[in-house]
Amino acid sequence: MIMLPFADVIERLPVPSLRRSRAARARLDAIIYSLIADRRASGRDHGDLLSMLLAAQDEDDGGVMTDQQVRDEAMTIFLAGHETTANALTWAWYLISGAPDVEAKVHDEIDRVLQGRLPMMKDIASLPYVERVVTESMRLYPPAWIIGRRAVAEYPIGGFAAPARSLFLMSPYVLQRDARYYADPERFDPDRWTPEFRATLPKFAYFPFGGGPRQCIGESFAWMELVLLMTTIAQRWRLRLVPGHPVVPQPLVTLRTKHGMRMSVQKREIGELASL
Ligand code: HEM
Repeated sequence: MIMLPFADVIERLPVPSLRRSRAARARLDAIIYSLIADRRASGRDHGDLLSMLLAAQDEDDGGVMTDQQVRDEAMTIFLAGHETTANALTWAWYLISGAPDVEAKVHDEIDRVLQGRLPMMKDIASLPYVERVVTESMRLYPPAWIIGRRAVAEYPIGGFAAPARSLFLMSPYVLQRDARYYADPERFDPDRWTPEFRATLPKFAYFPFGGGPRQCIGESFAWMELVLLMTTIAQRWRLRLVPGHPVVPQPLVTLRTKHGMRMSVQKREIGELASL
């Protein structure tokens, strides 16, 4: 909606859903502004992102950011990094729930590598199968399912001259299910992600994090988070889609699920044979 003409006016209409959205934004703002105020007052460097934003100086005039600029940066990171990752995990668990063979391999790798202890950053390199599962699920269900650009001036592309203000839409969801790049494209098959396969894949046949100058700045962080979260949860729990629950993708800004993803959760014993 924020991209619609007259968005400012529409946002202020006395409609219940918009009122809820304004209240939610006010709550988030209150939290972030109070963090900023506390930090400015203490003057201490906590060595985290907020301290870095407060200390950042303009290269030319040495100016620092206003509270609102810091709030905008912090909010972007918060929103861009939260929903996308939650969304990626939701779809990954859905796919695993329907593929007991994949689940067994996930459990097997985790139990073998970790021997029951919690995963840490240094373990990620030893969990290649978990990483393949995440890669494959973001192929089928990329959280950022569509990416848009508007041409500021006439732009030549593929033999056409797109006029200024043309809208370009690029969809990881569509391209990542294209049979030109992926054999049996609708199939959830983490094993397709061999190093040889990766080497032959054209650059933008897989782009859940976008590309070019506006490529996701949180990509490395997201991979770390996704592998560690999946490992930590799968180590102790088995998630099963509740039979009959309708799974309907809802392509909003991110690829949500229209009716949520109802799962039952079963405790698993670490080291139990995953295929039992
Ligand atoms: C699975 C997780 C994630 C996915 C799929 C994802 C996807 C994307 C995509 C496709 C873009 C480019 C949008 C465009 O070109 O218009 C983007 C941009 C961005 N992402 Fe992520 N992201 C994820 C996680 C994160 C995390 C964890 C953070 C921060 C901690 C983050 C911060 C950002 C920011 C700030 C931008 C804007 C960059 C810019 O415009 O220069 N993202 N993300």
